[in-house]
Amino acid sequence: MATLKVHQNGKIKEAEADLGEVLLNVLRDNGFDIYSPCGGNGTCGKCKVLVKGEGIVTSCIFTVYDSMELVLPDKREAKVLVAQHAHTIQLPLMPGPAGDLSGYPHGVAIDIGTTSLVFYLVNLITGTVVETRAILNPQAKYGADVISRIQFTASQKDGLQVLQREIINVINQELVHLVQFGGISANEIIKITIAGNTTMLHLLLGVDPLSLALAPFKAQFLDEQLRRGSELEIKCFPGAEIKILPSISAYVGADIVAGLASIAPSENYHNYLFMDIGTNGELALVTGDRIWCCATAAGPAFEGARISCGMGAVEGAISAYGDDGYIVLGDEKPAGLCGSGLIDLVAWLCENKKIDSEGQLDHDFLIVPASGSGTGEDISLNQTDIREVQLAKSAIASGIRILLKQSGLTFDQLDSLFLAGGFGNYINIDSAIRIGMIPYQLKDRIIPLGNTSGTGALAALKSTRFDDAMKAVISKSILVELANDDDFAMEFAMNMLF
Ligand code: FES
Repeated sequence: MATLKVHQNGKIKEAEADLGEVLLNVLRDNGFDIYSPCGGNGTCGKCKVLVKGEGIVTSCIFTVYDSMELVLPDKREAKVLVAQHAHTIQLPLMPGPAGDLSGYPHGVAIDIGTTSLVFYLVNLITGTVVETRAILNPQAKYGADVISRIQFTASQKDGLQVLQREIINVINQELVHLVQFGGISANEIIKITIAGNTTMLHLLLGVDPLSLALAPFKAQFLDEQLRRGSELEIKCFPGAEIKILPSISAYVGADIVAGLASIAPSENYHNYLFMDIGTNGELALVTGDRIWCCATAAGPAFEGARISCGMGAVEGAISAYGDDGYIVLGDEKPAGLCGSGLIDLVAWLCENKKIDSEGQLDHDFLIVPASGSGTGEDISLNQTDIREVQLAKSAIASGIRILLKQSGLTFDQLDSLFLAGGFGNYINIDSAIRIGMIPYQLKDRIIPLGNTSGTGALAALKSTRFDDAMKAVISKSILVELANDDDFAMEFAMNMLF
């Protein structure tokens, strides 16, 4: 047995460990969140901690051999977008029969994202949103993207239960805050609606997600799922209706269905593109009677994973870069680059001829020297990082072109490009166009919508009529498998260029 003295955020905590145990596992078991986007596979290099007397170690491959003193990176506050969008569908307040279960009925809409969760507490008599909360998804410590989390469930004994427990626990933890804030009892939460991608919903219900990651990529369920609060051990009225919104496919989930159904643009918008860039990149091209949709393998590069100096959009992240220098989130020294900063920097490097059209970087680009960074290490961008950006932006740009081809439309015929997700709100559009992620043809028609998935979950909570809007989305949707399209490989190669 060894004793670990762990320093974080100015506090010290002790933890016991067996000799030979993997340090990352010990830290997780003792409640420390260590960012580990590759899921502990030893490939991302993000789970580093300082072991006194040893130096910086990769915690997922470092084994405890003696009692030791550790310093963990400080926890940083997340910036998560929670606001509603301006094109939201308007429906009458009709929460359904669950509304009769309490004299003071409340409901909670939840958007379970791969990176973050958003909660809305709603008074179901008035329809008022009483409180909104956002928190990072605690499953992220087992992998940044859905594939690494599915791998975790397949490779670890009880892996599925671990991930399910993480999500139920964080929901319960947030419900406690919501109930306190709203001055209500848990029994007055009589309805919960949940949107999320297909993998997140499988993990929530404890359904094996492995088939989502293996060809032919089938989900165990796509239809709406109804459960009771007691079945999922959620801290609400035990008979509360827990409504899991429906999905289209393994990679076009309820987050996209709810998001698309939440949009009610004015009559000026007949044909439009919808882009949700998060840990996955989902696209939809909407016309009057059809919705062509696809999921791109954009990967989590824009969420900071797989980029050597990448990090999430939390305090300390460089969120913008240009001729005048950089902007850091919060009152912190820079610690790395988040997605918007990464796109700005790559655009700037292209513009200043430090990257050629094929993505060749003349040498590693130093953004902040160790002396000025919050980590005590250089913050720089290398050739491998540029390749990751190329793969991600090409996946998105190629997906857009294939959807256009399949629909028979041209850029001129699109009335708008709606950008969903927090990322869509924070990126600099000019930079995204400069690197070729967003087509320049749509430059003047781009409208950021914010968290459409959360908006959809909220609409589903407030009105059973939203079910019809989601059914309409599903019945009009045509799933486009990009890899099966003859032009995809050529498009992908072309869109790799800057
Ligand atoms: S290298 Fe340890 S989690 Fe990725």
